[in-house]
Amino acid sequence: MIDEFNAFELCPGCFGETVRRGICSGCGYDREAAQHAIFLETGTLLENKFVIGKPLGKPGGFGVVYLAYDRDLAIKVAIKEYLPQQWASRQAGRATISPLSKEEEPYFRYGLEKFLEEARTLARFRHANVVRINHFFHALGTGYLVMDYYEGVTLDAHVKAGRLPEREAVGLMLRLLDGLAAVHAGGMLHRDIKPQNIYLAHGEQESMPILLDFGEARQAMMEQSGGLTVILTHGFAPPEQYEAKRDQGPWTDIYACGATLYYMVTGKAPPDALSRARKDTLETPQTLARHLSPELDRAIMWALSLGPGCRPDSVAPWRDALAACLIERAKPPEEKLLVDTMAALDDTVTVPVRDEPATLKTVRANPSLYNIHLLYY
Ligand SMILES: Nc1ncnc2c1ncn2[C@@H]1O[C@H](COP(=O)(O)OP(=O)(O)O)[C@@H](O)[C@H]1O
Ligand SMILES: [Mg+2]
Repeated sequence: MIDEFNAFELCPGCFGETVRRGICSGCGYDREAAQHAIFLETGTLLENKFVIGKPLGKPGGFGVVYLAYDRDLAIKVAIKEYLPQQWASRQAGRATISPLSKEEEPYFRYGLEKFLEEARTLARFRHANVVRINHFFHALGTGYLVMDYYEGVTLDAHVKAGRLPEREAVGLMLRLLDGLAAVHAGGMLHRDIKPQNIYLAHGEQESMPILLDFGEARQAMMEQSGGLTVILTHGFAPPEQYEAKRDQGPWTDIYACGATLYYMVTGKAPPDALSRARKDTLETPQTLARHLSPELDRAIMWALSLGPGCRPDSVAPWRDALAACLIERAKPPEEKLLVDTMAALDDTVTVPVRDEPATLKTVRANPSLYNIHLLYY
């Protein structure tokens, strides 16, 4: 398999043509660097069609995502391998995955069925803001989900480079909500919306936000095994996700979207929902970033309501609340003239400080004729 792959002289890091050994001049990938034993070896050929490249994510609890190359169509794809490390592993030196023991086997099989079911549901969606599923196959004792590959960065990486201006954040969230509304209309929830599961695909003109990594299968597995850690992302998961039996619905994803938008504009994740339920220390977005509009502040706090019944019950009303943030606000009415005196240019006058009218400050006047128009400092 490896020899056949090497014959292509394609780099496993970018599938561009490159030298056979060492570092790729195109993407910097070092094919001789040691690889985590859990990953499939680069160059492995699956279905006589897909060449496995570098891992795209970290080895998670549920599976591994690889960059891969479809030899027939000569395009890059992303492939998710089902590998729940709680129940299964790849034996050293072998590509095949097997359950850890006989006891774990039924859980492993159940999760695999759920992974396939989730793939089937997702494959029905053809939406620009939802990851596109193209194929599913069984191999090496497990299942593989083949997706479109997007060039870009995660929303998390984008925000880590600097929190986003309000308009950009709201614009991205509105497009994600289009995708999410389609998912909900199809009777499915995402259940794990967070900045690491949103991808910003580079477009011709602007980035296209895409929902990745649905958590339905993980939720089902969690209910089966009674473990909570697989699905929850503290800060982004609402309280009802901490109790498997509690009623989940579109409002569950809306909490996670609210938390994601909070993160986009403040650079901070909200405190986790359980600690909020004990003592709510959530600061409003405006407290952390004063320039944000009151409309956005209200919309985010609405989505982050702890009680599911207090949140928007579907995407539509929350989308409307966010859209209101994009409407150009009318200029505030002419401010009341607080200082009305005759002053010449550069005379000093005493004016109240904005937002703290009790504080006065002496500044140089900039009169327009005789009225001082510098009302606040
Ligand atoms: N279709 C894709 N195109 C490009 N990158 C992807 C794609 N799917 C996943 N990734 C990358 O792999 C990472 C992990 O994928 P994800 O589906 O979130 O799995 P997990 O969180 O279980 O590892 C993502 O954060 C993203 O960086
Ligand atoms: Mg993920």
